[in-house]
Amino acid sequence: MNIAVLSRNPALYSTQSLVQAARRAHHYVRVIDYVNCDIVIDSENPKIIYHGQTLQNIDAIIPRIGAGHTAYGAQIIRQFEAAGVYSTLGPSPLLEARNKIASMQILSSHGLMIPKSLLSNNSLFFDDLMNELEDDRAIVKLVNGTHGLGVILAHSHKQATSIMEAFAKSKSKVFVQEFIEEAGGADIRVFIVDGNIEGTMKRQAKEGEFRSNLHRGATANVEPISDIEAQTALKAAKILGLKIAGVDMLRSKKGPMILEVNASPGLEGIETTTRNDIAGKIVAMIERDTNKK
Ligand SMILES: Nc1ncnc2c1ncn2[C@@H]1O[C@H](COP(=O)(O)OP(=O)(O)OP(=O)(O)O)[C@@H](O)[C@H]1O
Ligand SMILES: [Mg+2]
Repeated sequence: MNIAVLSRNPALYSTQSLVQAARRAHHYVRVIDYVNCDIVIDSENPKIIYHGQTLQNIDAIIPRIGAGHTAYGAQIIRQFEAAGVYSTLGPSPLLEARNKIASMQILSSHGLMIPKSLLSNNSLFFDDLMNELEDDRAIVKLVNGTHGLGVILAHSHKQATSIMEAFAKSKSKVFVQEFIEEAGGADIRVFIVDGNIEGTMKRQAKEGEFRSNLHRGATANVEPISDIEAQTALKAAKILGLKIAGVDMLRSKKGPMILEVNASPGLEGIETTTRNDIAGKIVAMIERDTNKK
């Protein structure tokens, strides 16, 4: 089979891992920088042009779309699908999962728990809106933050309101969330491929930090999860239409709460922590879905 990994950087661990897994399974594989693809939208002959050449004979794509290129990445995936190419990630699931507010709305409307979240367009209403939270502490989050940057723990409603006002002044979109203290600075990452859980790990924040991002110095270890946690993670991926997903959950006293569902989850942390060949599982899924070897 002819597989393309859509990635900006062939040297990245995840890209490399997928390329090697495809080669091990005797497929032809190349890395395509989707940001440098041009598209021809046409009902008869939709095309994707890369470095001046029309891409042809590709059977499957594995999109690895960076956070800064979500919209263009989705357009390129849609174009490949229009040309009859199988994709491990659809354009709509990518767009939905990347929208933090929309995905929280969708998941909670399906009965999954998320930390209670508050959003307002008007900074004059922040003060009153805070009354929706029981605890005096609150998490203020940038809608478009990553790697834990833009996730702030406010120790009072007053403090949270001031932080929100400052963000609103600089035109950054923020929302407030209940602080799940009992998570103890840890979150659970569940890696799903094709409706199966392929790896679970716990990321624990370093001493004195509540954010469990590896970029903020957290450590990761294999962690067994409960049935209810497994069901929650699988349901979240299914609701968002993701065949590959990294579901992040907090262990709250009410049960598992979903923090985020990642549509292009990195392979390095989970493969090195669990020693599972997850890229190989992704290639096997493509073979099953396309009936090609
Ligand atoms: N409501 C909360 N209660 C307790 N801890 C939280 C809460 N929200 C976030 N955290 C901690 O902060 C970390 C970072 O938060 P989050 O994952 O929401 O943002 P991010 O990592 O910056 O964004 P993204 O995951 O989209 O890259 C989480 O992994 C978790 O450890
Ligand atoms: Mg995160």
